[in-house]
Amino acid sequence: MGKAKKLFIKTYGCQMNVYDSERMAEAMGGQGYVTTDCAEDADMILLNTCHIREKAAEKMYSELGRMKPLKQARPGVKIGVTGCVAQAEGAEIMRRAPMVDLVVGPQSYHRLPAMEAAVQGGARALDTDFPEEDKFDHLIARPKAARAPSAFLTVQEGCDKFCAFCVVPYTRGAEVSRPAARVLDEARDLVERGVRELTLLGQNVNAYHGHPGGLAGLIRDLALIDGLARIRYTTSHPNDMDDALIAAHGDCDKLMPYLHLPVQSGSDRVLKAMNRKHTAQHYLALINRIRAARPDIMLSGDFIVGFPGETDADFQQTLDLVRAVGYGQCYSFKYSSRPGTPAAERAQVDDVVASERLQVLQALLTSQQVAIQNAMVGREVSVLFEKPGRLPGQMGGKSQYLHAVHAHAPDLAAGTVARVRIVESARNSLGGVLV
Ligand code: SAH
Ligand code: SF4
Ligand code: F3S
Repeated sequence: MGKAKKLFIKTYGCQMNVYDSERMAEAMGGQGYVTTDCAEDADMILLNTCHIREKAAEKMYSELGRMKPLKQARPGVKIGVTGCVAQAEGAEIMRRAPMVDLVVGPQSYHRLPAMEAAVQGGARALDTDFPEEDKFDHLIARPKAARAPSAFLTVQEGCDKFCAFCVVPYTRGAEVSRPAARVLDEARDLVERGVRELTLLGQNVNAYHGHPGGLAGLIRDLALIDGLARIRYTTSHPNDMDDALIAAHGDCDKLMPYLHLPVQSGSDRVLKAMNRKHTAQHYLALINRIRAARPDIMLSGDFIVGFPGETDADFQQTLDLVRAVGYGQCYSFKYSSRPGTPAAERAQVDDVVASERLQVLQALLTSQQVAIQNAMVGREVSVLFEKPGRLPGQMGGKSQYLHAVHAHAPDLAAGTVARVRIVESARNSLGGVLV
């Protein structure tokens, strides 16, 4: 057998890309590749890209630029582009960047090994199909290596919502759910290998329909797996939060009290222009119902400021909504015009105005986040310990609310869930003592 070839994957964008990179690395294992953390000694480099905002897409071209000398020095190195930029601009990448050997979109990753073989033969390969077959059935099984305590598992992919600003329905395709039996098999396998917490992934994960009971049904079945301690899911859409899922937050102990529920704006006018198909009031009423089921739930969200047509009054309504909800964590973005989406054709908000709004919103969100984190001091939380902390004898992990927590715990193995009393709140983490 020849020497193992080395594969370097650089991952941009969302958690689904992180999961996809793991699956691609495993598939390439079948081609004799092992992964490396160093691009310089790789035989193949894959950039797993994100197209969500302009800056995200630009990163790929600048990274390719940085890799030029590497490719010149060692022309045998194969360079591939995967992910959402590959899907959106595949043909253009092939044209603009002759150093790229292969381009493959998210729904064709199971074809990567065959493409690699073609590329080794000197060809260039492009595949941005949305094939009939299910890539997960054709991607090779994950090798039985030990795993970190926390893992992602894609259960649903794609989006039919077509928010006016968003590329995802075009880059990931239509909504598809993986059958529950397959998800459960993969989950059991991950748990056998040391996983204690699963985060179920989907662009609209709560639209999951691979189980007769929807996402709630899947979560309840997953909760029956011995050794699996925690279940999370992301990202959910307000219009798909059904009663069964809300009820699960109330009575399924393994489902963690944390919910990422993006609303994007607090103005009904803007929500309508965004094609979100819900109002601010609908969202707030939903939050009330979720909190009634699970009073301590930690909420997180996404906001876009400077969407075409957004006025100061609209923006004030976003601030009002944020004040009404109280987020433990949030992501906020300046609107970025994406070619091919409906909003790209509309008159844009002045960039200076949008930047100012983003600053104001982020200041408010940060103050909420800090206050909620500080309020943890004195409380007891449960922590899934994942890895050694910075100080000797320290272990770090995540609370049920997804706060980073560290504690002196020299005898605890990674993967242990333990009760911790929080004694201090630092910038990005909480410090505690085992109880
Ligand atoms: N499927 C998820 C995630 C979509 S992308 C969802 O529906 O929430 C993650 C976030 O990026 C979005 O929630 C939105 O806030 C932001 N986003 C998407 N397109 C954007 C654009 N064109 N400009 C700025 N932010 C955008
Ligand atoms: Fe994009 Fe909207 Fe679909 Fe989320 S729901 S992926 S923001 S189109
Ligand atoms: Fe980016 Fe694609 Fe995820 S555009 S956010 S990598 S679905």
